[in-house]
Amino acid sequence: MLKISVIIASTRKNRFSEKPAKWIYDAVRKRNDAEAEILDLRDWPLPFYSDEFPPIALAGRYKDSIVKEWSKKIASADAYIIVTPEYNHGYPAVLKNALDWLYFEWNNKPVGFVSWGSVEGARSVEQLRQVSIELQMFPIRNSLNIKDFSDNFDLIQKPADLFLNQLIWWGNALKVVRSQNPPSFV
Ligand SMILES: Cc1cc2nc3c(=O)[nH]c(=O)nc-3n(C[C@H](O)[C@H](O)[C@H](O)COP(=O)(O)O)c2cc1C
Repeated sequence: MLKISVIIASTRKNRFSEKPAKWIYDAVRKRNDAEAEILDLRDWPLPFYSDEFPPIALAGRYKDSIVKEWSKKIASADAYIIVTPEYNHGYPAVLKNALDWLYFEWNNKPVGFVSWGSVEGARSVEQLRQVSIELQMFPIRNSLNIKDFSDNFDLIQKPADLFLNQLIWWGNALKVVRSQNPPSFV
């Protein structure tokens, strides 16, 4: 079964993000072709990146125990859904730090985005597409962008089905490719 991690990218008090995160998590759980787990960055108080080397050079030799656990958790997923607000036209710093700590663990897996805000969080998502390519993830075409802070998720049920179809299709395809052809280009 394909494993999807739903990453909650906001850690602030009274955050909105829990609602869309729970909704997309439930939407995966209603299907029979994937399983989901919520990774709440509140539960992952990673230090600010401070290692002498970048993760591509560290190749898994992490010093902090929480980073070792984060590495195992991210490596165990086949696909990611990042549930993100927009802060000053970008995505939260806590998310960037969580992404930056790892490299190979993210590689060759699809990622989809759920966002909200005054322009539906679109600017945050466009930045994340660039970052995810550098991490050798595959950002899927569709994203789920919520106007302001509407929690009437019925309005985007059909786009959500399409979004999950794309993510799971790419997740399955890349899982096969990863198992048959260990990458030799990193
Ligand atoms: C530091 C900060 C910057 C923000 N900047 C934007 C912004 O650029 N665009 C936007 O649509 N909303 C912006 N907002 C409003 C957020 O969309 C709103 O607070 C939302 O609830 C954030 O998601 P969260 O509650 O899950 O953290 C900002 C909020 C904060 C805290």
